Formats: sequence, C-alpha cells, structure tokens
Amino acid sequence: MGLLHWESRYSVGIAAVDHEHRELVELVNRLYVEATTQGSKDAVLDFFGDLFKAISAHFALEERFMRERGYDHLVQHKNDHERLLDEIRDIMDDFEASDRFDERMLAQRLDAWFSRHFETHDARLHNALGAHPE
Ligand SMILES: [Fe+2]
Ligand SMILES: [Fe+2]
Repeated sequence: MGLLHWESRYSVGIAAVDHEHRELVELVNRLYVEATTQGSKDAVLDFFGDLFKAISAHFALEERFMRERGYDHLVQHKNDHERLLDEIRDIMDDFEASDRFDERMLAQRLDAWFSRHFETHDARLHNALGAHPE
C-alpha cells in the first residue's frame, strides 16, 4: 500500500504541473513501499533520506524558476517549502531517537501539506508564470 493517493484537490489545473506532482506522489509511494518491505530501521531511515531528497529537488526547481522570473511571492512560497522540509526532518529525528514510526501520521501530514500547498502556493505560481521547464 502506498503512503499517499493522488487527490483531485492536489490539481493546480495545469496538466504539466499536475503531471509532475503526480510523479512526485508516486515516487514517495515507491520509496515507501521499498522501505517497508525491507522492514528494518535502516531502510526506514533511508526512506526518510530519499523522501527528503525527492521533495527538495522539486522545490529547488520551483525556487529557481521563481527567482529567474522575479516572482513576487518567492519568499512566502519558499517559506512554506521550508516548513514541510522541517517537518520531515522532525519526524525523522523522532523516529531515529525512539524507533517509533507512525505511518498514518506521516501520511496525514504529507497529505495535508500537499493539498494546501498545491492548492494555494503552487496554483498561484503556475497560474502567474505557467509551467516551469523541466
Ligand atoms: Fe510544485
Ligand atoms: Fe511549491
């Protein structure tokens, strides 16, 4: 079972951007399935590392695009990216310290963040500037 499901509320209404977000969600799921089938603590830690990398890479792409185009809400948008990365770091640190990992909590937090961020920040960005080049 994947961690996340694509939801129509994730859609920003631009096919190329939705496609990329869908790929991100699928990647998160693939990494998660890999880690949980192995089942070791190290595999879960690797999953967090890979999750962090995959999400950061997407954010870096958007941030570069916003900078290049002189986007007026760059700071607010970037702050919201940082907020999710901090949250993932916190969840990972908790897991490392305690061995406890609440899969539903992680899924809920990612889902809540994705739907709100895609619906607000990403929709605003891509409606203003279109899709970014890959
Ligand atoms: Fe995005
Ligand atoms: Fe974004």
